[in-house]
Amino acid sequence: MSAEIFDKVRGVQSEIEAAQPQTMEELEQFRIKYLGSKNIIKPLFGEIRNIDNERKKEFGQLVNTVKEVAEAKYEALKARLESAAEEAAASDLDLSAPGEPLELGSRHPIAITMNRIVKIFERIGFVVADDREIEDDWHNFTSMNTPEDHPARDMQDTFYLKDSTELLLRTHTSPVQARVMTRQKPPIRIIAPGRVYRNETISARSHCQFHQVEGLYVDENVSFADLKQTLLYFAREMFGPDAKIRLRPSFFPFTEPSAEMDVYLGTATEKDYRLTKGTGWLEILGCGMVDPNTLEACGIDSEKYTGFAFGMGIERQALRLYDIGDIRLFFENDVRFLKQFASAF
Ligand code: PHE
Repeated sequence: MSAEIFDKVRGVQSEIEAAQPQTMEELEQFRIKYLGSKNIIKPLFGEIRNIDNERKKEFGQLVNTVKEVAEAKYEALKARLESAAEEAAASDLDLSAPGEPLELGSRHPIAITMNRIVKIFERIGFVVADDREIEDDWHNFTSMNTPEDHPARDMQDTFYLKDSTELLLRTHTSPVQARVMTRQKPPIRIIAPGRVYRNETISARSHCQFHQVEGLYVDENVSFADLKQTLLYFAREMFGPDAKIRLRPSFFPFTEPSAEMDVYLGTATEKDYRLTKGTGWLEILGCGMVDPNTLEACGIDSEKYTGFAFGMGIERQALRLYDIGDIRLFFENDVRFLKQFASAF
């Protein structure tokens, strides 16, 4: 009798071990059968009274083991089926669902304005020269005929790199002149757009960072007339065929003679009135004939070659182009502001 019951219990155990529920429903059937309130293991415990005394303990342990096997198998199967269900949900690709929208960026108004200026000069043979924003003292000042203690340095105070009196954030794009002239022989015809820095209080009209485009033309027989005609060509391309310019005598250490150029916008519109402070004239650049000292400092024979250079600010032109009232908007990176200037440039 005992042996038969032992066999019966072992039969239940192998049945449990062989069971292969494939779905949550089948697993639930498994649970009801072996672990539910009316499971088939429970009555087996009752059989203990039919077992010979000396085997009672062994029998009890066997039934316990069967119960534990059922429990362990249930937990393992449950975990496996649940993670399979999660995986299936994750890979449940719906190819007809609408995609994540990709925001289309737009060019920055400064970049658009800068590219426009660069293109105008490229059309007459100027080539873009790109260079560093962290400059050394020599390229930014000394080579540009502005030795230490020169009063012109006062107007271009800047940010020096920590623990250095040599390395600074360039105050203008003019050091690109020196970069190019020290490595290239004339004829040189470059246009150098880029960011520059000055230690200035930030306001609606000025900022400690801004952008310039530098131009440099060095060759035999380059004259002030060439400079003037080149700038007139630029003004007409940029501001329209009727654009008028004027050159006012000025001073820059690295050009001689030097001038500042204004473009006549008139005062017809309120924004032109505002931008030109009521004069109709907008100052857009500094220029002049490259000082022989600058040519020589960069290893160019000033007896043989002459050249002209100019440097213009971008922000002011962009303010006018897009009718913007505050220069700080350019540097805030507010997408609501920036996305208004989508452009083909
Ligand atoms: N570098 C000058 C400035 O930033 C502009 C300039 C460039 C003047 C080239 C003359 C020639 O003010």
